[in-house]
Amino acid sequence: MQNICVVGTGYVGLTTGVCFADLGNRVTCIEIDIHKLDTLRSGRTPIYEPGLQELLERNLRAGRIVFTDDYVSALVDTSFVFITVGTPMSGNGAADLSQVEASAHSIGLNLTHDAIIIDKSTVPVGTGDMVNKIIAANLRPNISFSIVSNPEFLREGSAISDFFNPDRIVLGADDREAAQRVADLHAPLGAEAIITDLRTAEMIKYASNAFLATRISFINEIAQICEKLGADVKEVARGMGADRRIGPHFLDAGVGYGGSCFPKDVLALYYMAASAGCHPQLLQAVMDINRDARCRFVQKLRDILGTLDGTLIGVLGLSFKPNTDDMREASSVAIINELQAEGARVKAYDPVAMEAASEILPTVTYCATAYDVAKEADALLVVTEWNEFKQLAFDKIKQYMRQPIVLDGRNIYDPMEMQAKGFTYRGVGR
Ligand code: UGA
Repeated sequence: MQNICVVGTGYVGLTTGVCFADLGNRVTCIEIDIHKLDTLRSGRTPIYEPGLQELLERNLRAGRIVFTDDYVSALVDTSFVFITVGTPMSGNGAADLSQVEASAHSIGLNLTHDAIIIDKSTVPVGTGDMVNKIIAANLRPNISFSIVSNPEFLREGSAISDFFNPDRIVLGADDREAAQRVADLHAPLGAEAIITDLRTAEMIKYASNAFLATRISFINEIAQICEKLGADVKEVARGMGADRRIGPHFLDAGVGYGGSCFPKDVLALYYMAASAGCHPQLLQAVMDINRDARCRFVQKLRDILGTLDGTLIGVLGLSFKPNTDDMREASSVAIINELQAEGARVKAYDPVAMEAASEILPTVTYCATAYDVAKEADALLVVTEWNEFKQLAFDKIKQYMRQPIVLDGRNIYDPMEMQAKGFTYRGVGR
């Protein structure tokens, strides 16, 4: 059992805190947003993440996790302090580090004993050194600390199982003994610990996300070529993925990647590279292809309908991927904005993201079911591959629609079957 402090209760922080508590540790989470703090103290999670609510309740009941906005009490007796605050995109694409700086400042001012400070937020290479300086500048005398970079690889929608079943634990530190102690903290997870220096660990995170985004843009480029040459990208990905050097994951063609990580991290890495005098051509192409994937999807609809002006378009799925209510950088936003800009009316349904979506897309008509979306629609667009869209009653949907047109942005339906059911059907790359 260790005493752990987690600064920031976003996706990464809350999952980290709750999961370490579940492993039997005593966890104090610091959250300075009073509204969020009240929600957490009352036993509710402010975000939708499968399994998180149950785990939060269990560990609150057991007294293993508490929430506070007070650094002084949170840092008492704590050996490990995780920084898990947000690093949003700033105006020029670089990561905005103000929350990291503020938490480093508060940790430095309030630490009263030796501790290991672990940076889990995705931060530009060199930030660990900056955090080191800020803490050192504010620290009382005779207290020592070490900085460890421990990038997080969990995915929204499967964050809990990703935490408990990691592929690897990356730890970067100039103080190897501190890195080993953080490795020991993760020992119950049974994953390989990769111990390296601070800057390399920070780079591993960006390189991993950029590589996954590159795979998606690569397969989306192949999809575009498949469409022109009459091949099926799903089968191509299956054939490629069976090669162990390639592997089957992150080869689903579609309407592009979104979320709070890939768009931000590819851009931040691009910015870091360019600022260092490099010419990151591949990263530029990855971003361009991702933007085009959304445009091409709308172009397909334009090609079928002639004009979008005056049409009624139904959209199934709004969140950036299934099993989350997160709308950040969701492909649905770019697609719906383009449809509306050309005079289409849009109605939509998403199992959990409609409340979040209504703030970003206020002029969309939100429906109670997928079937309501189909009513009177000129076309139905699948943008997020929620399970409940995979076996819809298409005979009913066809009756409801003004025109039986389905654009499947995530390739969840069989083209032959959809055509046999009387739909004009277009997937991506097939
Ligand atoms: C991603 C990484 O997968 C995590 O390892 C990482 O920890 C996280 O970013 C982060 O940096 O915090 P996440 O953004 O939650 O996780 O979502 P992913 O499951 O990776 O999906 C990202 C986007 O790519 C989604 O919009 C998804 O629809 C799209 N995608 C994914 C594809 O278009 N095709 C694929 O084959 C896979």
